[in-house]
Amino acid sequence: MIEVKNLTRYYGEKCAINNVSFRVEKGEVLGLLGPNAAGKTTTMRILTCYMPPTSGDAWVAGYNIWEAPMEVKKRIGYLPENPPLYHDLRVEEYLNFVAKIKGVPGNRLKSQVSSAIERAGLTSVARQVIGSLSKGYKQRVGLAQALLNDPDVLILDEPTVGLDPRQIIEIRQLIKNLGGDHTVILSTHILPEVEMTCQRVVIINEGQVVAQDTPENLTRRLRGTERILLELDGDTRTVEEVLGRFPQITSREVEKLSGNGHVRYALEVTEDIRNQLARAVVESGVNLYELRSEAYSLEDIFLHLTTKEEEAVA
Ligand SMILES: Nc1ncnc2c1ncn2[C@@H]1O[C@H](COP(=O)(O)OP(=O)(O)O)[C@@H](O)[C@H]1O
Ligand SMILES: [Mg+2]
Repeated sequence: MIEVKNLTRYYGEKCAINNVSFRVEKGEVLGLLGPNAAGKTTTMRILTCYMPPTSGDAWVAGYNIWEAPMEVKKRIGYLPENPPLYHDLRVEEYLNFVAKIKGVPGNRLKSQVSSAIERAGLTSVARQVIGSLSKGYKQRVGLAQALLNDPDVLILDEPTVGLDPRQIIEIRQLIKNLGGDHTVILSTHILPEVEMTCQRVVIINEGQVVAQDTPENLTRRLRGTERILLELDGDTRTVEEVLGRFPQITSREVEKLSGNGHVRYALEVTEDIRNQLARAVVESGVNLYELRSEAYSLEDIFLHLTTKEEEAVA
């Protein structure tokens, strides 16, 4: 449904995105995840044909962004970072207005507007002036205008930014329900959002795609490196000597829990050495309180992939 090939965009000297490629299948909800300034909005503006890339190519709903930008635009509903709402208009009036601009034919105007109102959960405020609505409801109005004319593809730029926690949950649920009927790309810098709403995630950092997969697979991919948490109480030098026997330990962080030798280590290891480690610790006379392996969360992976020193992990 969407294919993005080697998109690169410069603003003057500044490279905003560099060689970005990914695909989105029909009915899929794809998360474009990355920290601020990663290039999410730039990518979305190119896909919606708001501006051309410096180089590269993309197809949306069967049309090429260079050859048929008008056809692409017709098939996309776009929720920009700051949707241009008319605060003096009532919800219904505004949506009517946008529907006309989008070229929805007169005989379908009414049904399109009421269907968008219903799907965005705006029925109870349809006659209210937009300026009087809460931020969450304003965002729904933005979502409703994107839904007008039933586009194949929805492109939602940070749809939950600035909302309160309850509004966030509601909007996420709404978006999740839109998948299937629509192909959705949403951008976010919030990791749990991706886990909750998306089937697939493209992680972008400093203009480059650093990973793409399902949230589950991304988590699994880093299993090659595991982490062991080790809580013990004993002579520091003995402990260091024991740990030093294991070349599988690639890094260690230590946290003092109370006075003396009561500490907790977070060890990064190349393989599961819990067995040998437990035996060695106990045999050395150190008190062992806890030893367990900890799987990486998607959050850890995101940090690994988007933190400079750790880029090797990608
Ligand atoms: N109109 C512009 N002119 C110059 N630089 C821009 C412009 N828009 C974005 N940038 C730069 O391009 C990079 C990517 O920006 P953007 O796509 O907005 O990232 P994101 O949406 O992930 O925060 C940033 O470094 C940003 O400062
Ligand atoms: Mg942005």
